[in-house]
Amino acid sequence: MRAKSAAPIRHTRYSVTFSSHQSEPVVSLATLKDVDEIVRLIEANSADHGGHISPEFGRATIEGLLERSAIILTVRIGARLAGVLFSTDKEFQFTPSVSAMLRAWPGRSSAYVYGPVCIDERDRGKGLLAKLFDELKKRLPGREAVLFIERKNETSLRAHLRLGMRVVAEFSHRGKDFLVLHFVEEL
Ligand SMILES: CC(C)(COP(=O)(O)OP(=O)(O)OC[C@H]1O[C@@H](n2cnc3c(N)ncnc32)[C@H](O)[C@@H]1OP(=O)(O)O)[C@@H](O)C(=O)NCCC(=O)NCCS
Repeated sequence: MRAKSAAPIRHTRYSVTFSSHQSEPVVSLATLKDVDEIVRLIEANSADHGGHISPEFGRATIEGLLERSAIILTVRIGARLAGVLFSTDKEFQFTPSVSAMLRAWPGRSSAYVYGPVCIDERDRGKGLLAKLFDELKKRLPGREAVLFIERKNETSLRAHLRLGMRVVAEFSHRGKDFLVLHFVEEL
């Protein structure tokens, strides 16, 4: 898979929900320099540590995605990594669960795989997910996003329904039940 855009992202500044003594969140395109922090955030939220992110999604996969120029967005508050959102062309089925999802809902030929997404526990409920997704939509206009959420991850399901995503299918993988959601932007 090749880069969809090599142009440096224009840093977007936001002015809501953060008081004047806090840095505002800044969304950027991830680079290999971000990998250690991204891996730490993902590992802290993996199912191995009581979270919802599949342990299939580890350092090797993350580095592979960065090297393939997948669009990976970070959001930082000051110097600190507060969240990350992955997106990849669907041809690159980077984990068995992604393949299982695409069997359940292949999506349009130009669809992309959205996720995983992870916001640091300290920064949840501040709308950072919406900021990441707004930037992703700007970078992939009009393309269908396809994602899966474990059925019992109700917080994530609610947060993604709020973004305008819709449940379109379901599947089971390694004993867990997942919902498939998609998002199609009418341009
Ligand atoms: C799912 C997730 C990405 C949502 O991101 P977010 O930026 O917090 O999204 P929102 O701002 O829309 O808020 C989501 C919810 O968190 C709640 N929340 C507020 N403060 C919170 C806190 N300190 N800790 C946890 N949740 C909090 C919000 O009230 C909202 O809940 P509601 O739906 O009941 O109203 C984030 O919770 C997360 O990273 N979870 C762990 C990893 C994960 O599950 N990823 C998704 C895999 S599909």
